[in-house]
Amino acid sequence: MSDTPQKPWTVPMLAQARAEGRKLVMLTSYDASFARVLDDNGVDLILIGDSLGMVVMGMASTLPVTVDAIAYHTRCVARGARHALKIADFPFGSDATPEQAHAAAVRFIQSGAAMVKLEGAGYKLDIIRFLVEREIPVCAHLGLTPQSVLRMGGFKVQGREDAAAAKLREDALAVAEAGAALLVLEGVPAALAAQITAASPIPTIGIGAGADCDGQVLVLHDLLGLDTGHRKPKFVKDFLAEGGSVAGAIRAYADAVRDGSFPDADHAYA
Ligand code: KIV
Repeated sequence: MSDTPQKPWTVPMLAQARAEGRKLVMLTSYDASFARVLDDNGVDLILIGDSLGMVVMGMASTLPVTVDAIAYHTRCVARGARHALKIADFPFGSDATPEQAHAAAVRFIQSGAAMVKLEGAGYKLDIIRFLVEREIPVCAHLGLTPQSVLRMGGFKVQGREDAAAAKLREDALAVAEAGAALLVLEGVPAALAAQITAASPIPTIGIGAGADCDGQVLVLHDLLGLDTGHRKPKFVKDFLAEGGSVAGAIRAYADAVRDGSFPDADHAYA
């Protein structure tokens, strides 16, 4: 079982874990049964991600996901997970203004989330401030932000050029300054994610961002090697093969994140 405290996770415990050098183990879940398995097998943070659209609803991107859908799946997850911190993802367009974001965030918190996640910096900095001032903890998400798929022209690694890397470093400091308590870094070269993590006042969670982040997240269906009809990115690892069962796969992932063996160089971008 987990060597992390079995009392329920709270937002201040994220900074405490980082200060103590304990890696944060995060996974997505969308329903009560899987949430229960995650909770019982060493997962600290459960993200009710808008990846829901791609891995549960069968859509081509995350863009059609709605606030109603995230609120519904957050309620399902909250019934299954007692210990893990639940983080609900703002779907596309639902965090376009502070008032809209606040209304959606209140629904997510009332559905059982303890934190909300939003993609990007720029005008989102005001939204982070607006939410945090109103007692809603925020997780930021930078790098390959899937809601930017139309602008990016696909799901592409970010921060490879000097200017883009400098902008990511600047945005990472800005989201923390605005009040975010956690930062997901997706699809960025491992060396850049390591620099950002070293400079960041808040814990970082990597997905396709190398082993030097303060924690890791994967989409549950990818960890279980399920064919979702989408191309698997390089950073995805099927833990079911070594875990032998769903619970074993989740345990193997949690152990590999905690001992730093996942992600290795084969599951990271140079
Ligand atoms: O929606 C999601 O699952 C996410 C993770 C990939 C970080 O945002």
